[in-house]
Amino acid sequence: MEIYIKKNYEEMSRKAAEIVAEEMRKRKNHFVLGLATGSTPIGLYKELIRMHQEEGLDFSRVITFNLDEYCGLSPDHEQSYHYFMFENFFKHINIDKKNIHIPDGMARDLDAHCREYEKMIADNRGIDLQVLGIGGDGHIAFNEPGSSLSSRTRVKTLTQQTVEDNSRFFKTIEEVPKYAITMGIGTIMEAKICLLLVNGAKKAEVFAKAVEGPMTTEVTASMLQTHPRTIAVVDEEAAAKLKRKDYYKHVEKMAGLLKKRVNEKGKNG
Ligand code: GLP
Repeated sequence: MEIYIKKNYEEMSRKAAEIVAEEMRKRKNHFVLGLATGSTPIGLYKELIRMHQEEGLDFSRVITFNLDEYCGLSPDHEQSYHYFMFENFFKHINIDKKNIHIPDGMARDLDAHCREYEKMIADNRGIDLQVLGIGGDGHIAFNEPGSSLSSRTRVKTLTQQTVEDNSRFFKTIEEVPKYAITMGIGTIMEAKICLLLVNGAKKAEVFAKAVEGPMTTEVTASMLQTHPRTIAVVDEEAAAKLKRKDYYKHVEKMAGLLKKRVNEKGKNG
């Protein structure tokens, strides 16, 4: 896993946006971007919007798939992930609406819809880069503790902790949906790059478990340790409990020096 520890949330978001933009530019003709909700990626979306408005970053051919959606909330519900994505990202960029995919929490046959969602990802040749956050109990998307590490898109019952964590966005805890459609761990693991963002002291312990703890269904994010290319971009607070924090910083510095040397060599022939 590549780990970048940034000074604060703004720097974390900027670094993440640079990574996304670089991959987008590399794959101009076909880029499938997996997206996440929650408060963590909002800064990343703001920076990508800025890059679009000021630097012409082009989303016209980008295809997106969101990780998850609450069951029972319509797309115009203010707490639905559909609403979140349009408000925080899609309505500010030049994305073609037909290229946007978000699970439909109102689908009449949820299981059939989940199968269809998997098929749509496959039909688009898979996800190139998947943005991820981490839940308080170590989940990615809505893969709660105990989820099969090879699971596919399906309906999950949310844990009490997740319901409580997410109740801050609702008027009362009773209003928080108890089920969600989520990509599975197996689905996420097939993305070519996983970009995990983590910020704040509240996530420090769970992030350390995910990165340096044993691989376990108790912390489904720990499965990312086996992914061929996971890039974690985090702030200092979230990194506070990492055992190898100094080593990760050293690796980043050494990689920077190496890049500089290669560039200089290239320039000098
Ligand atoms: C929800 C989402 C996750 C997200 C998590 C953390 O559970 N399904 O994708 O990572 O919330 O949210 P936040 O970034 O607000 O801490």
